[in-house]
Amino acid sequence: MKGIILSGGSATRLFPLTATTSKQLLPIYDRQMIFYPLNVLVKAGIKDILIIVAPEQSGNFLNLLGSIFDKSDVRLEFKVQKNPRGLADAFIVGENFIGQDNVTMILGDNIFEDDFSEEIKNFKSGGKIFAVKVSDPERLGVVQFDTKMKAIKIVEKPKKWISDYAIPGLYIYDNRVIKAAKQVKPSARGEVEIVDINNWYLEKGELEVGLVRGKWLDAGTFDSLLEAGIYVKEKKLYEKFDPIINRAIVEFNEELKNLVKKKL
Ligand code: G1P
Repeated sequence: MKGIILSGGSATRLFPLTATTSKQLLPIYDRQMIFYPLNVLVKAGIKDILIIVAPEQSGNFLNLLGSIFDKSDVRLEFKVQKNPRGLADAFIVGENFIGQDNVTMILGDNIFEDDFSEEIKNFKSGGKIFAVKVSDPERLGVVQFDTKMKAIKIVEKPKKWISDYAIPGLYIYDNRVIKAAKQVKPSARGEVEIVDINNWYLEKGELEVGLVRGKWLDAGTFDSLLEAGIYVKEKKLYEKFDPIINRAIVEFNEELKNLVKKKL
């Protein structure tokens, strides 16, 4: 299993915060947002992770993460996505990185309280996504279930209500996702949409939809960014990180402090 974190985009809703840095590098209490999706992948035992970034912010990502896992066996690769061409473009940009493997893709701004290690480790084939009840499904990808909780319909940002179950930004697919991403036609806004990939698997009867346990936050607005920070602090979510990440952060901080001392 390979891992991809999609951290492109310009996050205009968070201007001026995102005028000087990337949204995924904004703080959620004591660490940058991107450590949360990174933790989901590392906890599941994924060792090869591709981080896709926007060109303007690539240097900041490298400064933070470029050598942070030097003392562990997690390998990070970086790729610049010149234009944001949709979430599913990650599988085209990441084609060589994925190779013949399966892949878990997670959005760089999604914060989960849940642990998906078992789902990721046990994944065999097809597609696996998740659903979570929200009060504003019209701004998200949405899945409709039948009475037996079997997914029957998936729509991106539905104008007409179909369900309260949103699809958060965590997607597990087999290697055919590369073929699927190349086959689906770009939408009216010129993007390769993740909804089309999910429907590609759903039509074949090969899409499984699990339910998210615990809180899910996408810190895309001032309020949800603040809410995420407060939630993380109150629930001490930073203590539940994989030790590989917590150790790496401590060492990174020590190195920085030593550099500052030397300069003084
Ligand atoms: C994207 C996806 C949407 C998903 C959401 C989760 O939306 O298109 O299906 O529910 O991420 O964060 P965006 O936030 O890019 O509008």
